Amino acid sequence: MSEELKQKLAELVKKKIGQNSYERFSDIISEEINKALLNKKIAESLERKGKLDDASEVKKLIKKIKKRIYYSSRVFYSAEGEHVSILERGKNLTAILEFLKKLMIEKNINTIVDIGSGTFPIYFDAFLGEASPKLRYYAIEKNKKIYESLLIYSKKSKMLLTPILADADTDSLEEIYKNINNYDKSLTLLLRILHTLYRTKRLNLVEFVEKIGSKYLLISEPKFSLVKKNDISKKEKAFLLRLSNKLKANGTISDFEILDTEEEIFVLMTK
Ligand SMILES: C[S@@+](CC[C@H](N)C(=O)[O-])C[C@H]1O[C@@H](n2cnc3c(N)ncnc32)[C@H](O)[C@@H]1O
Repeated sequence: MSEELKQKLAELVKKKIGQNSYERFSDIISEEINKALLNKKIAESLERKGKLDDASEVKKLIKKIKKRIYYSSRVFYSAEGEHVSILERGKNLTAILEFLKKLMIEKNINTIVDIGSGTFPIYFDAFLGEASPKLRYYAIEKNKKIYESLLIYSKKSKMLLTPILADADTDSLEEIYKNINNYDKSLTLLLRILHTLYRTKRLNLVEFVEKIGSKYLLISEPKFSLVKKNDISKKEKAFLLRLSNKLKANGTISDFEILDTEEEIFVLMTK
C-alpha cells in the first residue's frame, strides 16, 4: 500500500471535514482509508489518477467516513440515557466530577469500577487530565455502541481505561471482580443505574452489593425523570435509604452517608 497515496487521502479528508473532526475521529479515518486501499482495484485506480479531489472512489470514501462520524457522535446523544445523563446534569456535572476527584484522593483510591458507565468515564478522564495516569478505570457497559466509543477513547485516555462489554447482574459481577486484580483500593460507581437494574433484572440487592468487591460504593439516582421531568426525588431517596439501612443492619456495609444535590441523590457506602 503506497504511503504517499495514504497521506494524500488523509489530507483530502482533513480538508473536507475540518481539522477538529479530523483529529477527533482519526481512528475511524485511518481505518476507512486502509480498508479502501486494501481493495486492489481502488488502490490501482487512485494511483493512476494524478488529481484525487474529484475521483468517485474518494467521494465515496469521504461519504462513508462522514456517515461513520455522524453515527459515532450520535451515540453520545442517543435517547437511551447514556449521554442524556451527562446533559441532564448540566452545570452540576463539574460539581460531581470534583466530588469524585476529592473522594479518590481522600480514600486513596487507585481503581474505579463503573457499572453501567455510559460515557461518564470520558468526562472524568478529561476532567482529571494529567492527574489521572495511574488511575485504573473499568467501565462496564452493555450497550455495544457505547462500549465501542469507550474503546476508541481508551486509546488516548490519560487514565488506564478498560471498557468491558457485559450485562451486569449478580452472576456477571462476580466474574468481573475476579478478573480485576487488587481491587482493595477501589471504588465502585453505580450512577443512575441501580434502581433500573433492580427493576429490569429483579435483583436481590443485598446479594448484588455483597458481590461488589470494592470497599467503597457510590450510588446515585436522579431526582427528576428523564422523560417526563417529574419530581421523583422522594421515591429515589426512599429507595436509597431503605437499601442503605438494610445493608447496614445485616452487616454488608459498615456505614453510609447520603448526599442530596440539585439533580441527583448520592449514597456513599463503606464496606
Ligand atoms: C442512565 S445511564 C447512566 C450512565 C452513567 N452511569 C452516568 O451516570 O452518566 C445507564 C447506562 O447503563 C447501561 N446499562 C443499562 N443496563 C445495564 C446492564 N445490565 N449492564 C451494563 N450496563 C447497563 C446503559 O446502556 C447506559 O449507558
